[in-house]
Order: sequence, then C-alpha cells, then structure tokens
Amino acid sequence: MANPSILILAGDGIGPEVMSEVRKVIDWFGAKRKIKFNVSEDLVGGAAYDVHGVPLTDETMAKALSVDVVLLGAVGGPKYDKLDFSVKPERGLLRLRKEMELFSNLRPAQCFDALADFSSLKKDIVAGLDIMIVRELTGGVYFGEPRGIFPDNEGGRVGINTQRYTTEEIRRVARSAFELARRRGNKVCSMEKANVMESGILWREEVTWVHENEYPDVELSHMYADAGAMQLVRWPKQFDVIVTDNLFGDILSDTAAMLTGSLGMLPSASLGAPDKNGRPKALYEPVHGSAPDIAGTGKANPIACILSFAMALRYSFDLGDEAVRVEQAVESVLASGLRTADLMGPDGGKPVSTTEMGDAILKALDASL
Ligand code: IPM
Ligand code: MG
Repeated sequence: MANPSILILAGDGIGPEVMSEVRKVIDWFGAKRKIKFNVSEDLVGGAAYDVHGVPLTDETMAKALSVDVVLLGAVGGPKYDKLDFSVKPERGLLRLRKEMELFSNLRPAQCFDALADFSSLKKDIVAGLDIMIVRELTGGVYFGEPRGIFPDNEGGRVGINTQRYTTEEIRRVARSAFELARRRGNKVCSMEKANVMESGILWREEVTWVHENEYPDVELSHMYADAGAMQLVRWPKQFDVIVTDNLFGDILSDTAAMLTGSLGMLPSASLGAPDKNGRPKALYEPVHGSAPDIAGTGKANPIACILSFAMALRYSFDLGDEAVRVEQAVESVLASGLRTADLMGPDGGKPVSTTEMGDAILKALDASL
C-alpha cells in the first residue's frame, strides 16, 4: 500500500500528550523502516467544541471517512460536564463510531509478565492472561430509539433508552468474534441477559445460528452477563474471545482491563465492514479515558496509545511483523523496570514521564533493527 493515510484526533485531557509519543513512533517507521504514512491531524471532543461549538465538525467526519485509519486519543473532561447532551465531547466519538459503522470493537486484555504484580487480583490468576473482548459498538441501548427525557403523566419525568438489536447486527459482530477466535484459542463465550431481555434471547439465538451454520469448528458457550462479570474476576483465563453487546461490553471491558494492572496499558481497535478492497474502516484508541486529573503533568502512560497504533499496523496495514516489533519494544522497556506513575508499586521508585517512556520505546525499537 503506498503511503497509507492516518487521521490523528488527539482530543482532550491526556489525549494530546500520549498522541505526541505515538507520533514519534509513526515517524520512526518512516525514518528507520521506510514505511511512510500520510498523517493529518484534527480536533474531536471538547477540543473541537472549544473552537467550533460542536464535538465533531462535518468536515472532520468526512476526513475520517476518507482516510485508511483514524487514531483517537481521548475525549471529555469536567470542563464540559454542564454542556447540553447533544454537544458533549462523547457525542463526537459516538458519531465517528456510528457513521464509520464501526460495529466490532476489539479490546484485548493482556497481562504483561512484568506487570502481573500490579493487578488487584492474585498473580497466578492473571499471569499470562490473554483474552479478547469483542464489543458490539454501533447498536443496542447506546443508539436505540425512542430515547430521551419526557414529561410523564404524574407531573414528573421519564428517561427512556431502548435496547434494540437486529439479526444482522448480531450476526456480523458474532462473525467477527468467531474469525478472531480461529486465529487465537478457538473459543467464543457470548454474554447477554437472555433470562430477562428479549434482545438477549435474540442475541443468543443469532450467535448460535452463526456458530452452527458458519463456524461449527469453534467452541461456543453462553453466559449471562452478570455471571460473566463474576467469572472474569474469579477465573479470567477460562476465556479466549468474549462477544457481547454495546453496554455490557463497555462494562465488562473495563473489568477485564483492570485485571491486567493498569488501564494505561490497553489498546483497542474498532472495525467496520470491509470496503471494496477488503479493508475495514478502522479507528484505534486506547481504552483509558482523558484522565483530566493528570492532564498536563507528564504523568500519563503512552503505552495504550502506542499499542493501539500497533493494532493498526496489524489489522489495517497488514504489517503484523511490525506490530510485533512495537509490542516487543514495549515489553522490553517494561522488563527493564521503567514505569510511568500509574505503574508504580507500593514500594515506590521514581516514575518516568510520558515523553521519557516514549523515548525509551523508540530506543528499544532502534535496538530491534
Ligand atoms: C468507552 C467509553 C465510551 C463509551 C464513552 C467515552 C462514550 O467509556 O469507549 O468505553 O461509553 O463507549
Ligand atoms: Mg467505557
């Protein structure tokens, strides 16, 4: 692919800080591996609101649809808490997901050996953990209609959101989970609440349909999402790929992320349907948020965002070997004992800054040549 294009939307809070470190890694590939990317930058979230009065302009939306890959930092912050719901920073991100049709959100939870002690769970429960949560990202209660806050008949108000899933919405995300499982441990566990929700019954039936008709070679199990949450902290290594809806996936992926010790470590990929060249529309972002409490202090961990770029190398640019190169560079830096503030144990030590961590990863990349 000649000069693939990347749109960087650094967003709010620590977004711009971690994204500068990713930028260095992208430039490293141009300089040292002759893999050049056409990089452009634009605003999203509160940063876009401050300039344009909306969290995502139509122009930025159009750009996002025209590039190969969008890299996003984070959106939101207390400064924007009082804004009208329709222009909150999060709406910018949700618009990107919806209009790019990014229905499959891959959230790996991998425990780095060097960090197994940082988990709130016992080391033997999480050491070597490698699971993948596939979260449906463009449907369910996040987008279902009707929605809103309305007057009720007793002089009060009623808040309404609608959990809604169609056959095709469920089948396409199930396929993406089964495809991934085939390249991993060949197991999928589907989570819903079929015991109390009709949409959960449909979810279970359609996932089962895709399994029986298209992926009978993959092992499929089902779990109620509450039991799944419990099993995730009881014995997470029983899972390989978990597929679940938008809201359960939001919650379960934060739980899974924390098993690994730090939210600052986890990347994600959001993929759409393949285009005519067989490439899915794609947006990559760290799982962590904008962390306004530490924004601007140099404390942010850039690793999740750098690993999100590694996922882009793998899933959008067919550069799996280069993705491994980045992942191994991160691993070797962690193994050497370097830590950002979020990874400091109770015994202390001196944390490195966001840029020092980025520089160390560049050095490790140099060493890999
Ligand atoms: C996530 C976040 C988002 C979500 C917010 C920022 C809209 O929590 O990506 O998990 O709820 O999907
Ligand atoms: Mg979330």
